[in-house]
Amino acid sequence: MISHISHLKCPQCRREHSADHLSTYCVCGSPLFAVYDTGSVQEEIDSGEFPSDLNSMWRYSQLLPVKSPSYVISLGEGWTPLLLSRQLGKHLGLRMLRIKDEAQNPTGSFKDRGLSAAISKSLELGAKSFALPSAGNAAVSASAYSAAAGVSAHIFMPDDTPEPFFTQCELFGAETVRVRGTISDAGQEMRKRNGDWTDLSTTKEPYRVEGKKTLGFEISEQMGWSVPDAIVCPTGGGTAIIGIWKAFEELETLGLVGSERPRIYAAQSGGCAPVVRAIEKGTDNLEPWVNGKTMALGLRVPSPFAGRQILNAIRNSGGGAVAVAEHDIEPIRRMVARLEGLDICPESAVGIAGLRNLIDAGTIDFDEDVILLNTGSGARYTNLK
Ligand SMILES: Cc1ncc(COP(=O)(O)O)c(C=O)c1O
Ligand SMILES: [Zn+2]
Repeated sequence: MISHISHLKCPQCRREHSADHLSTYCVCGSPLFAVYDTGSVQEEIDSGEFPSDLNSMWRYSQLLPVKSPSYVISLGEGWTPLLLSRQLGKHLGLRMLRIKDEAQNPTGSFKDRGLSAAISKSLELGAKSFALPSAGNAAVSASAYSAAAGVSAHIFMPDDTPEPFFTQCELFGAETVRVRGTISDAGQEMRKRNGDWTDLSTTKEPYRVEGKKTLGFEISEQMGWSVPDAIVCPTGGGTAIIGIWKAFEELETLGLVGSERPRIYAAQSGGCAPVVRAIEKGTDNLEPWVNGKTMALGLRVPSPFAGRQILNAIRNSGGGAVAVAEHDIEPIRRMVARLEGLDICPESAVGIAGLRNLIDAGTIDFDEDVILLNTGSGARYTNLK
């Protein structure tokens, strides 16, 4: 199976860009997104070749960007279980709740999808080493996939990131740099050093979203190619939201689903909620959040680069955005551990608190088909009690 990628397209100025050399973002400042020749994919579906029986996200390789399978760096990411909640759903007042358990990815978070796709494609296009600013999980993924590819990784993380994130990156042989401040400051430090590397910053290269998109494919396939009523996403840089929206658009073009869409809800901590504020104010762009603070470190993204696309995906889906109180995060994390046997990360606890708020507000109804993302394992957050 090979990729049917055609080109990259800017959603803002509509310029088309070649997908045959390393790309960052558009000259107009917008992120770029991959476009596929869905007509050819459709022909393969008709002859029964899609999906494949691979138990990883590469089962969708026609709709992933890598053309030559020899460049695919896979550690078995994706095809994670869609767990039926035993008690949490009932506790929240839902008839049924499913949890997409992304902690079961190779390095323990959904970041593996994006980094497997981006690192593989970049290697195919000639990349020799990688760098990225990260709140922690993406750093570990980038380090692991760079190690598997035999190339170097240079990681810039806020200095208050829990120590196990640094230890694991270093175990995988990455260079780690501690930066005072948030992921934005880490990105600034990385750019100042101007190394001879390929920058993997969220949505400043086109392919991490492609990996994350497979979350949407899997949710639909695991539900028999249907569409849930709502998906709740803990949101930082917004790759999951943009990817899931893109997935359902592509599935419709292929005729695998109809025009219905899951309502996508972004959940953020009240301590750093630029997406929630923009949705509430009805603006087209995100205003940077000043002095963002939250223990859900992956959601401490004061100014996501793909702000416009995050807001469009949420609005076009008919969904929304919800802020949660910082003091709810840790008790919810403990509650889920006891109710479901899952050690979830604080970011996912924000998603669950958000779902609870949406149910309380009557935005999500008790008999709706709701999917929660457990975006990663809680195991590395050792400074939480
Ligand atoms: C565990 C976890 N969940 C959620 C996110 C947010 O990811 P995004 O908004 O890019 O989909 C992150 C980002 O660092 C994370 O580490
Ligand atoms: Zn453009």
